[in-house]
Amino acid sequence: MKALVLAGGSGTRLRPISYTMPKQLVPVANRPVLEYALENVRELGATDVGIIVGDWAREIAAVVGDGSRFGLRTRYIRQERPLGLAHCIRLARSFLGDDDFVLYLGDVMLHGDVRPLADDFLRRRPAAQLVVARAADPRSFGVVETDADGAVRRMVEKPEEPRSDMVATGVYFFTPAVHEAVAAIGPGARGELEVTDAVQWLVDRGLPVGVCEFGGYWKDTGRAEDVLECNRRLLHGVRTRIAGEVDPDSELVGPVVVERGARVVRSRVEGPAVIGAGTVVADSRVGPYTSIGENCTLRASEVSDSVVFAAASIRAVAGLHGSLIGRGACVAPGGRDGARHRLVVGDHARVEIAA
Ligand code: TTP
Repeated sequence: MKALVLAGGSGTRLRPISYTMPKQLVPVANRPVLEYALENVRELGATDVGIIVGDWAREIAAVVGDGSRFGLRTRYIRQERPLGLAHCIRLARSFLGDDDFVLYLGDVMLHGDVRPLADDFLRRRPAAQLVVARAADPRSFGVVETDADGAVRRMVEKPEEPRSDMVATGVYFFTPAVHEAVAAIGPGARGELEVTDAVQWLVDRGLPVGVCEFGGYWKDTGRAEDVLECNRRLLHGVRTRIAGEVDPDSELVGPVVVERGARVVRSRVEGPAVIGAGTVVADSRVGPYTSIGENCTLRASEVSDSVVFAAASIRAVAGLHGSLIGRGACVAPGGRDGARHRLVVGDHARVEIAA
């Protein structure tokens, strides 16, 4: 079985972060989301992986390389414009050949044992098999309706009135039958070639399409609040590891990772939390549920339930909570006119200030 991992797209829901980096490289517990996806692809039994890349091709390749770090062989497939998930399958036609494959969205987190999903597909081998999960509010997902035998009857993209709480997670198993489907469909309402329509095309022609429910934790990390939730969830599993320095005036509570070259000085870090390599935390309180990337500086500040990207600096700010702080961003009080707020904030940024 091959794999097709999608790491293109426009990431509009994750602006402004996605202006300067692909959303698949957003760190969760200090690792890019895409790395978790690639590890899962390996677990599913694939070694030959096509990675669809768009404008961020170079950044993705810089992290993934030839894939050997994950036990994979990667091939990059360029998508000039994000024309839809089914368009990605069309582009990968020659790479995929006549092999079965798993289609895996590069911004989706599946945390838990994924192997049963592949076993189930290979045992039954329907034309397509969707990995599904239950969603409390299915309206922003591809909603899957099945008959009494669990066969897919209908799949609807983001319906206003969902008829089921079963949604597609973003992981699909396909036999080569899907190539005819993606060739036959046209663009949907969003102007994209939808994988949903390709699946429906298979169903409408009487080909077997099944589902397999994922038992672990699943999250589409497409929006800032999803990244934070996912970060909380993944930090849950960290174990204390101190490779950097923690001075005697500091206190670590609960599971905390301090990476090599990081320094914690006169601070309290409440786990679960990770402090990236080369970061300095001084006179501060960090955590719980906080990931601080590499080479950051935190001085006289308080940060909880947040993701701080590499090389950011936070100085003399109390009560930072539920925040995504982008790469190299600086959060600090004003200079001479400290009673007022002065912002240099990029397009589509969101700033919420304590009243
Ligand atoms: P989406 O999150 O559905 O789309 P998007 O990246 O355009 O994001 P937004 O809705 O916020 O604008 O895409 C799911 C995954 O598939 C994601 O990892 C990006 C990738 N993708 C492609 O590689 N090519 C495409 O044409 C599309 C639409 C998505």
